[in-house]
Amino acid sequence: MSTIDYSDKIPNNVNLSEDRTLQRALEQWQPNYLKWWDDMGPDGSQNFDVYLRTAVSVDPQGWAQFGHVKMPDYRWGIFLNPAEQDRKIHFGDHKGEAAWQDIPGEYRANLRRIIVTQGDTEPASVEQQRHLGLTCPSQYDLRNLFQVNVEEGRHLWAMVYLLHKYFGKDGREEGEALLERNSGNADNPRILEAFNEETPDWLSFFMFTYFTDRDGKFQLCALAESSFDPLARTTKFMLTEEAHHMFVGESGVSRVINRTCQVMNELKTDDPAKLRAAGVIDLPTIQRYLNFHFSVTIDLFGADESSNAATFYSTGLKGRYEEGKRADDHQLRGQFYKVLNVQNGQLVEKEVPMLNALNEVLRDDYIKDSIGGVERWNKVIEKAGIPVRLTVPHKAFHRNIGLLKGVKVAPDGRVISESEWAANRDNWLPSEGDRAFVASLMGRVVDPGKFANWIAPPVMGINRQPVDFEYVRFG
Ligand SMILES: [Fe+2]
Ligand SMILES: [Fe+2]
Repeated sequence: MSTIDYSDKIPNNVNLSEDRTLQRALEQWQPNYLKWWDDMGPDGSQNFDVYLRTAVSVDPQGWAQFGHVKMPDYRWGIFLNPAEQDRKIHFGDHKGEAAWQDIPGEYRANLRRIIVTQGDTEPASVEQQRHLGLTCPSQYDLRNLFQVNVEEGRHLWAMVYLLHKYFGKDGREEGEALLERNSGNADNPRILEAFNEETPDWLSFFMFTYFTDRDGKFQLCALAESSFDPLARTTKFMLTEEAHHMFVGESGVSRVINRTCQVMNELKTDDPAKLRAAGVIDLPTIQRYLNFHFSVTIDLFGADESSNAATFYSTGLKGRYEEGKRADDHQLRGQFYKVLNVQNGQLVEKEVPMLNALNEVLRDDYIKDSIGGVERWNKVIEKAGIPVRLTVPHKAFHRNIGLLKGVKVAPDGRVISESEWAANRDNWLPSEGDRAFVASLMGRVVDPGKFANWIAPPVMGINRQPVDFEYVRFG
């Protein structure tokens, strides 16, 4: 079960060859996927040999093999974690019953929606990042970008497999539609707002992989609890890939900060203009990018009060983060949770039924988790002897969904007037000038072991290779 069959046209560990109808359907989707990769995948990179990891098993130890491959030849496939014997549903109204190996008719529509929404984010991020290779700060970073991209492509495969196998004709149509929507397309955009934003520069990319791929982690963790066993098993394996994406983000931002602090100490200044003139990104600009990506990402968890969230939980489709580790009744009826609301110009807590607040519960778990990395970034600044600290903004800052939508709140959580917002907007979120400055730093550095001036080299290379290893051969 854990070993992957690479003799099939579509690598898999689900005995695909025993289900001819499904195999044929996926083999028909495969060329459309490759066409999408060609049109919308990493720009101008089809002939590069990239040092990528490929899954060879789903064992926790040594599931990956590394080697140079052309990305269009990457062995995208279908990998599920092994089935847990006699797995039981452990939350919601069906708690204690056997996990479903097929989809109960009454939950078909909701499960389809959940799978399509998750699936849509995967190719969306590839599209958002498709031009970044042209301005990479090093070969090492270029390779990491491409690794993230091919794995997001594989995550799309994971969701399309479920759609094809369990949803018949509807599922096949959804599979096609996932290749037809495009990030930022005016007529046929991606489903979620944050996935229609551009990722215009590498600071945005690192912030995106730190904050937004972490949203991916939390959504996948919630789905890994699902009563629908194939969804739980596929998302568990996706999580092992997701960990690298967040590493790329956390270490990327950390290296940017490290380089900035070096130059601050060399020049003995914290003046953004002098630092910019020296070609590094000043800490206030990094804080504004952080504010932007954090606030846009926490919107992805949805409205603070949501009857859909209650339904998804009660019917056993989507659990909480680490559902199994929680010591409550896992049904949550008659329990309450606090969400934020605005009353008379003040943020006030409001108690709502816990079931309706599960988006907020997941958002709060996410916020706790994302603060950890920000504290590690602060250690870098502290080590350099600089008194500045980065912070995540208040969760009501710059929100665009639910009760807080459009309310003007400062990063410190004060509700403010429109005019105070307007006067400070460019202190709190990246201004056009900030974005233009960061864009001006984006060159293309591809000599092995060389790094752009605005970012420090990593502490070590990928898969124990040296930092100056030839991670990408340009052919
Ligand atoms: Fe993903
Ligand atoms: Fe990811």
